[in-house]
Amino acid sequence: MTDWRERLTVPRDQFIPPVVWVDDPATGGFTAVSRDDDESRWRALVDADEPIITQVDDGETPLGGIGLRPSSSCSQPSLVAAMLDVLDVREGHRVLEIGTGTGWNAALLSERVGDSGYVVSVEVDADVADDARGSLARAGYRPLVVTGDGAKGYQPHAPYDRLLCTASVRTIPRAWIDQTRPGGLLVTPWGTDYGDDALTCLEVHEDGSASGRCGMNLAFMRLRHQRRDFLDPTAEEISAADQTVTSRGGRELFEMITFSQAAFTIGLRVPNCYVTVEDVDDDHRKIELHDVRSQSWARVSLVRGHNPWTVHQLGPRRLWDEVDVAYDWWLAAGEPTPDRYGLTVQPNGTHTVWIDTPDNDNRWSLGNESESV
Ligand SMILES: C[S@@+](CC[C@H](N)C(=O)[O-])C[C@H]1O[C@@H](n2cnc3c(N)ncnc32)[C@H](O)[C@@H]1O
Repeated sequence: MTDWRERLTVPRDQFIPPVVWVDDPATGGFTAVSRDDDESRWRALVDADEPIITQVDDGETPLGGIGLRPSSSCSQPSLVAAMLDVLDVREGHRVLEIGTGTGWNAALLSERVGDSGYVVSVEVDADVADDARGSLARAGYRPLVVTGDGAKGYQPHAPYDRLLCTASVRTIPRAWIDQTRPGGLLVTPWGTDYGDDALTCLEVHEDGSASGRCGMNLAFMRLRHQRRDFLDPTAEEISAADQTVTSRGGRELFEMITFSQAAFTIGLRVPNCYVTVEDVDDDHRKIELHDVRSQSWARVSLVRGHNPWTVHQLGPRRLWDEVDVAYDWWLAAGEPTPDRYGLTVQPNGTHTVWIDTPDNDNRWSLGNESESV
């Protein structure tokens, strides 16, 4: 296999807007870098094998402001190449991309399908979609860029041979399966509220189901409408919460939270649980778990020199206890990594996750799209 740089045959810089956003430790948010003001810094960002944030806060934060949440980006080049490989796009294919962003990936897809295929790309943000149309036209590519909610796919040009989502999802929308031909492939970062995502490739079957394996572990921004949400209880509510201690040590806690091999499994065992981590200072870290639907919340406070650490739990679910049980399950199951999992979506939308093979005893249902897995 050639180096990923050689496989990305469309230059990235034509698609990067003149203003991009970078993580700024000084403010704790994201600040703008403008090509006009600092060309060498802008160029270094474009040339690096890193994602580039091209919009924050759905475009609501003005230049000079501090962004709180990335809302559009140009993905990391080596990851773009890996996703295209998994998608296995060939000349003549009809491809639907969800999440146009800068349009770079739509250009790469257009190159691969050639004149005998076509590419439709759906972007939810009208300004982002307009910019992408402009960049694509200047670079000589004419995929159809549609402004809309990609969770609905794009029926007018269905069926597609390939569907690629470049944002992450918690559930596979029914429309994506319906609009992909039997034997076609659907590739998306997929994961739960809790852990990172896994690059998941499903084949669509004649009966309207889809199944396939999870692959590399990655972190992507969520499809809008499937974004995670959190609770922020008052000091009064926290003082009334159940208070216990955890016997877990630092290494275990590290393994139990995001960016670890266990987190993917924990998310699959503990539904609707979003984890946030805040470093209050060098000696104090807060791990919080949130289930907005049931209004359940938990916090583990790690204060250097004060273990065993305090756990507060609020609401009908005991989220920390659930995570604790799920971590033991992961250890007992042989510490499965994300790439050992697979997913089947039934015609009725039920998502079933399995380890190694679909008929393994280690398989369980995650519910369906309307129950919002
Ligand atoms: C990681 S970026 C995509 C990168 C892009 N493919 C590129 O080549 O630059 C994710 C994009 O998905 C878009 N997005 C989020 N939710 C969406 C939705 N429901 N429908 C369509 N696009 C969505 C975001 O606005 C953002 O532009």
